[in-house]
Order: sequence, then C-alpha cells, then structure tokens
Amino acid sequence: MTTGSLLAADLVIAVLAAAAWLGGGAASAARRRPLALGLAAVALLATLARAITITALARAGWWFAAEKVLIAAPLSLAAVGIAGPRLLRAPGDIRAVAVPLLFAGYATSSALLVTILHGYPASAGAGLLAVAGVVAATVISGRALGAHLPRTVSRVALVVAVAALLTGTGLTVAPGAAPAVPHDHGSPAARIADEPTRRFTLTAGTATVDVGGRNVAAWAFNGQVPGPELTATVGDVVEVTLRNRDIGRGVTVHWHGYDVPNDQDGVPGVTQAAVRPGQEFVYRFRADQAGTYWYHTHSASDVGVRMGLYGVLVVRPGPATGLDVTVPVHTLAGRPLPAPKVEQVEAGLPVRLRLINTDSTTHRYAVAGTAFRVAAIDGVDLRGPTPLVDTAVLIPAGGRYDLVFDAPATPVALFVDGRAVYSTGPVSTATGAWPVLDPLGYGATAPVPWSRFDKTFTLVLDRGLDLRRLLPRYAHTVNGAADPDIPPQVVRRGDVVRFTIVNRSQIVHPWHLHGHHVLVLARDGKPATGSPLWLDSFDVRPGEVWEVAFRADNPGMWANHCHNLAHADAGMTLHLMYS
Ligand code: C2O
Ligand code: CU
Repeated sequence: MTTGSLLAADLVIAVLAAAAWLGGGAASAARRRPLALGLAAVALLATLARAITITALARAGWWFAAEKVLIAAPLSLAAVGIAGPRLLRAPGDIRAVAVPLLFAGYATSSALLVTILHGYPASAGAGLLAVAGVVAATVISGRALGAHLPRTVSRVALVVAVAALLTGTGLTVAPGAAPAVPHDHGSPAARIADEPTRRFTLTAGTATVDVGGRNVAAWAFNGQVPGPELTATVGDVVEVTLRNRDIGRGVTVHWHGYDVPNDQDGVPGVTQAAVRPGQEFVYRFRADQAGTYWYHTHSASDVGVRMGLYGVLVVRPGPATGLDVTVPVHTLAGRPLPAPKVEQVEAGLPVRLRLINTDSTTHRYAVAGTAFRVAAIDGVDLRGPTPLVDTAVLIPAGGRYDLVFDAPATPVALFVDGRAVYSTGPVSTATGAWPVLDPLGYGATAPVPWSRFDKTFTLVLDRGLDLRRLLPRYAHTVNGAADPDIPPQVVRRGDVVRFTIVNRSQIVHPWHLHGHHVLVLARDGKPATGSPLWLDSFDVRPGEVWEVAFRADNPGMWANHCHNLAHADAGMTLHLMYS
C-alpha cells in the first residue's frame, strides 16, 4: 500500500468513526436502542482500526505521524475509554449513554479537524484547543439532554480553554513577513552580438479553435493552440517579440525548464511587468542547452496556460536525424487536443518522440510495438539508458521525456492515459497493466558532485488554513503559509543548496524551480540509484519526501512553485532569492 492510499484509508476510517459515534449519540438520545448500539459498535471498531493505519503510516516513514499520535490518538483513546465501558454496561435506559457517545463523536471529529485544518507543524496550542472544543461541546450537549454532569467536567473545560488561549493556540503564528518582491521592470535584455539569431513573434489573443470537431474559446499565440513550435540550434540567439492583442489578464512568456538569465524569465511582478493589451516585450537569450522545453504565459498562469497560451521550445545540437517530433499533450475545454500528424517512417530510421505534459496533472504514456529508451528527461540526457519493453512512463505536469527507438517494420503506437494518440498501424495491446518506469533507478549511476551543502531548506507542502492575514483562507500552503506570505529562500551565488520537499497533503504536487535544474538525491530516504536525474519538474506524491540539490549559479529572484497551476495560484508559490 502506498503512503497515499494509507492516508486515504486513514481519512475514510476517521470520518466513519466520527460519524458513527455522533450518530450513535443521536440515536440513543432518541431512545433508538438497536440503532444506537449498532452505530456504537461500528464506531468502536473504526476507532480501533485507526491504530493500525496510524502505525502503518509511521512505519512507512510518513513525516507527520507524530501529530496523529499526539493529538488524534489520545482523543480517540479517550473516546473509546469513556464510551466503551458505559456501552458494555448498557443500562436499561439507552439514553444514559448519549452523552458519552456524543463525547466520543466530538473527540474524533476534532482530531479530524486538527488534521485537516491546522496542518504542519502540530502545536500544543492546537491540541489544547481541540480538547477545549470537545469538552465545551460535551457540556453543552449534556445540558441540552438534561444529563447530570459532574462539576469537575466544567472545571476541566475552563482550565483547558484558558490554557489553549494562553499558548496562543498555535494558530496565531506571527507573520513571517516576506520581504517585498523587487519590481525591476523593463530591464533591457542583454544584447548579444555576432551570433546567429532566430527571431520569432508571438502575438497573444483570444481565438476560437477546433477541438475534435467542436469550436471552443481559447487564448492563443498566433491564433493556434499550441503556439508555434520554436526551434533553435545550440549556440543560436533566440529573440522573441511578444505582443498582446487583447488578453486582459496580461501575458508574459516563461521558458519552462530553460535556465535563462533572470530578466528573461517572464514572471510578472518578479522579473518584468505583465504585457498588457497593445504592449510588447522582447525576450533574448542564448540557446546553450540542447533539449525539449516549452514556453507558456506566467500571467494568470492557471487560466492562461489552460486556455492555450503555451508552445514547444526545442533546441537541437545539430540538424535533426530520422524522425524527430514533439508531442505536447494538453487538455482544452475538457478535451484532449489531437496530437500532430506524424508521417510514416522507413523501418530502421531513428525516431525521437519528445513528450511534453503541458497540463496541470500527471499523464501516463506508453509506447507499444517496440522497445525504446528514455534518452532525456526535462531536456537533460540520461546516462546509459537501457532498452525498455512494455513499460509506461509517468510525466509530471510541466515535465518532458524524450523516448528514442529505431522504427520497426511493424506498427508502433503511442498511448496517453490509455488513448492512442498516434499509431502507424493497428497495435492490439492493452497498455493499462504495464509497469511504470521509476526514473530514480533507470540508467547508469554516477557520484553526486557535492558532499556538503551550504544551505538546506525544508518545504512542507500542505493544504490548510493560512492565518497570516486578516481574513483566513483555505490555501495550498508551504510550511503553513501561502503566497505572498511564504518567506523567500535566500542563497548566495556559488552555494550548494539542498531542498527537502515533503508532501503532507492528499494530492500530488508537481514541483518546479525556475532558473535551475535540481539533481535528485533521494526519495523517501532511499538514494537515487540510476542515471543522475537533473529535473525541473517532479511529482511529489502524497506522503513522499524528496531530497534534491543544485548549485546556485544563476543569480536573481526565481519563482519556486507547484506546477499544478491552480495550486500555484492558490498559494503554493515561493521564491528563491540571491543575496
Ligand atoms: Cu512552467 Cu513557473 O512555470
Ligand atoms: Cu500542487
């Protein structure tokens, strides 16, 4: 069982336990004896079952088992300890166990609330607040049911409530005010003379595009989705004039995965001002990394990219050989865009499929009918990739995989999420059951170039209440805060920097640092054993812990965010800043 499914199971059981306790309490208050006893039995079992899921989570190395052990477990134990014996004695008047059952319901619900709302790190204040809430709710229910509650109960309630307030409840953390992001607008692109220059113009505008025979509203570069494919040869200078015809939310171009100088990075409010309707901006950088990349707007990026403001950037080391095609996968208005037409290839010719995931969620790709190798991930060649057969690859949001093979004489097909997007003939293979490649163990290993780290940062990705502003909001958080309240990570040029990225939430977070590729060191405490993996986009699944590192060699102010762009917009964005 993966940590993700354990977490889901634990959550379901916790909800079931809370609901059954509360239901049992309500049923006994209504003197529905069989129903009350039935629900209470379910609740008892569910509460005890959580001991198993919590232990399993702790053993799976889940970082946050402590908070369950410190807060949820004692409350659940109290619930069983108080309600259980009364039930067994099951008095003639079932109504007498209503308050203990309700108490158990409040205890399990409040433990659940702490888990869902409070987030990391767990604090004594949160624990006390939860206990105070439980006692208060029990006292109120007791009064309402006319039950006789011992005086000590109210006294305990008072003491706990005061203690919760005094410890600051852990909820009113002092705002770690983030320094203002410099608005260094319009710094002219460095002029690079005497080099072959590839010039392009991208005009952003609203458009109507045909998706599988249906006209849908889109935002497009040059009227097409995806935008034009930009290609260059290593050593070229790329010069792109961006114009905005009528996109009211503004437009920029971010070169995803391309480690350009900071003032070319295209992040509005950080490296430039958004280009408004009628305005233009010129990007200029040298194409010195070969590989598969893409570009997209970073202004209102969630809606902007989803609506179609993106395209492919491919930099080749020299003239393409054989068949060399890009396959950007994108969902527009809820439908997958058709893959570009690919011509037939002569058997024996080399084929390179550059798979690009431009959506906000992971896609599963499978090539049927031939063995293949993964030549590159995120634009960087792998070391010693071995042939794979009947194996699928998962590409995170924003990620790229280059698959290579020699065209066989028999048909080949590419499947995305089980759907054939391209085929040279009938291939009857069910790819759904294929194993998935783990890139951390693929290819030939090489030593990590650093043995010590100048800076280490931990990023805990979560969903929770961000209470750092006047109005609390339920956000996607990093270390308990949401953009713009997450303090930046400050490094010095030349530092070797290590990130520990931990996913405490129930959903995948595809992590993406601008301006740098990071080297994967380990996942869940297990060192990577395959080819060095230099990534710019990687999925941190629920419960996972990733260790990655990079050398700070590209000064500036860089976005560092989740590439599920809805999450990025809802708080999951911070910045890496050079001092
Ligand atoms: Cu492709 Cu800041 O993102
Ligand atoms: Cu995310």
